[in-house]
Amino acid sequence: MSELRVCVSDFEKEAKRVLPKTVYDYYRSGADEQNTLADNVAAFKRWCFLPRVLRDVSTVDLSVSVLGHNLSMPICVAATAMQRMAHPDGETATARACQAMGTGMMLSSWATSTIEEVMSAMTTSPGHGGVMWMQLYIYKDRELTLSLVRRAEEAGYKALFVTVDTPYLGRRWDDMRNGFKLPSHLSMSNFQTAFLAFSEGNYDKDSGLAVYVANAIDPSICWDDITWLKKHTHLPIIVKGVLNGQDAVQALNYGVDGILVSNHGARQLDGVPATLDVLEEVVGAVQGRCDVYMDGGVRRGTDVLKALALGAKAVFLGRPVLWGLACQGEQGVTEVLELLKVELRLAMALAGCRSVSEVSRSLVRRVDFTSRM
Ligand code: GLV
Repeated sequence: MSELRVCVSDFEKEAKRVLPKTVYDYYRSGADEQNTLADNVAAFKRWCFLPRVLRDVSTVDLSVSVLGHNLSMPICVAATAMQRMAHPDGETATARACQAMGTGMMLSSWATSTIEEVMSAMTTSPGHGGVMWMQLYIYKDRELTLSLVRRAEEAGYKALFVTVDTPYLGRRWDDMRNGFKLPSHLSMSNFQTAFLAFSEGNYDKDSGLAVYVANAIDPSICWDDITWLKKHTHLPIIVKGVLNGQDAVQALNYGVDGILVSNHGARQLDGVPATLDVLEEVVGAVQGRCDVYMDGGVRRGTDVLKALALGAKAVFLGRPVLWGLACQGEQGVTEVLELLKVELRLAMALAGCRSVSEVSRSLVRRVDFTSRM
């Protein structure tokens, strides 16, 4: 019997117990010394709440509209790669959990399930309000890239999240030491050739994924590639990996439909700020011209509420979903999403917010550590 899981770290502890070390290390790791990895989580503690009282919080409405879809809560699932390493059902289990919870899932280009089977898992599963979005890496092979886009469009995915922070893969020391590669029974299912499916290669002295990225992903991509992509799809485009106001304005100039403030789970450039710390700058630069989302370090409902107060329309959860998946497949992911939902509802009620639209900047204040000395 597993122990009662009351917070995300309970799920992580159990996931660490059940996962092979190389898999746990891959999911957990940040780049280099992992300073940003720790800071993504720590940043939330630098903000405190200024709650309002006596506001009748007997009902609290968590629903929100994201990219034209009504979701039951402002908590969505981020793209995380190769989910069948965590559980045999992998991405299909995550999609079913999102359907059950009425929220959005971003599928990784590097999924171990196909674009089509994940969509079918969502649509054939009980529940409603789930929506699929596709995370896109731009490959050196542009036809291959566009074939992913075509398939996502045809399968019914509703937006493309283009990763812009990965011209090369960050150095994740554990993966290098472990010679990280996919277990032999798995592959990146959306690709036909063994090389592109990441199912061959001897990577004993390096992270196999870093070698894969260096060979396959296009490091020359620039803003004109957003224009190129827009020409080839009718789907909304969200840039994933913006960390400052200048790039946010640039993204708007190139006609994006949304911005995801992300440092790739601290797995790329170590030493960048925590995403929460740059959220306000990006929101300020955007001035309401498109939605701004964030990911990175979200572990509690109170974290979600702080991100909303600082201007995020919704947050995306990465590692917590993997921990739920590792613990108990679809049920585990549902439990993690439900946990965050329950925590957010309580946090909103205790803060005096009856709906997401009542969450405003005045709800939070940066903690002044010096005055506490
Ligand atoms: C995948 O996107 C990774 O960062 O490993």
